Amino acid sequence: MSRFSSSTQSILPTGDVPGHVAIIMDGNGRWAKKRFLPRIAGHKRGVESVREMVKTCIERGISYLTLFAFSSENWRRPPDEVSFLMNLFMFALEEEVEKLNRNNVRFRVIGDLSRFEPRLVELIRRSEEITAGNNRLTLTIAANYGGRWDILQAVERMIKAQPEKRDDFSEDDLAAHLAMAYAPEPDLFIRTGGEQRISNFLLWQLAYTELYFTDLLWPEFDAAALDAAIASYRSRERRFGRTSDQLHGSETRIAAVAQQDA
Ligand code: IPE
Ligand code: IPE
Ligand code: MG
Repeated sequence: MSRFSSSTQSILPTGDVPGHVAIIMDGNGRWAKKRFLPRIAGHKRGVESVREMVKTCIERGISYLTLFAFSSENWRRPPDEVSFLMNLFMFALEEEVEKLNRNNVRFRVIGDLSRFEPRLVELIRRSEEITAGNNRLTLTIAANYGGRWDILQAVERMIKAQPEKRDDFSEDDLAAHLAMAYAPEPDLFIRTGGEQRISNFLLWQLAYTELYFTDLLWPEFDAAALDAAIASYRSRERRFGRTSDQLHGSETRIAAVAQQDA
């Protein structure tokens, strides 16, 4: 593929269920505030929603679930909240990894781990190793992740691996070095909490993803809410630049021929 051709050459099949769902889990702090609780109580309750999402995605036959847990911008939060989030991540992972493994879930983390405590990095790597052979659901947590960071690190890694690509490389060459190169691009993006922005999440990978925004706060987001998002996804027509007639043309022709034959 030449550097200037489109990355969406083929029409991806739109199944009934999205193969890859990516979620910005937003609204924990507001959930807590509404209940006169400290923000951290909202983060704690948010872990329950993560558990429910993993279970529901398995039940619905979704293959990839990617959750934005901590952005590269979230270091700007008060230090107490940052360290609470790190400890919560550690605690939840320690507690859940065996269960994930039993349920045939492959666990991955994307993001710049260099700022994390070595203990946490070690736990992440171990959890990834333990679950590496699983294939029912791939659960990816984006931690200290930023979409711009991802593109930069991919360029860096590509040039290190193939210096000759420096002057001429394709989208595929670069995409192979993105942090989530092991997964197809998300079919459905969900953001809870009412904001309608991407907040530096998967910038490259969301190019043709269907976007869904809900006012529900993350701790309120449950199986029924995911089903509503999937129903909305099903009602979309993914055209990838084509016209609606082009997409339905072959179907219409087949129907017309069938009618003639009858
Ligand atoms: C999302 O909830 C969780 C993280 C960013 C870690 P917030 O903490 O952003 O909650 P709000 O947006 O303040 O309600
Ligand atoms: C986005 O949430 C990042 C995560 C959910 C981890 P934020 O609440 O930090 O996003 P902004 O800053 O309001 O866009
Ligand atoms: Mg927020």
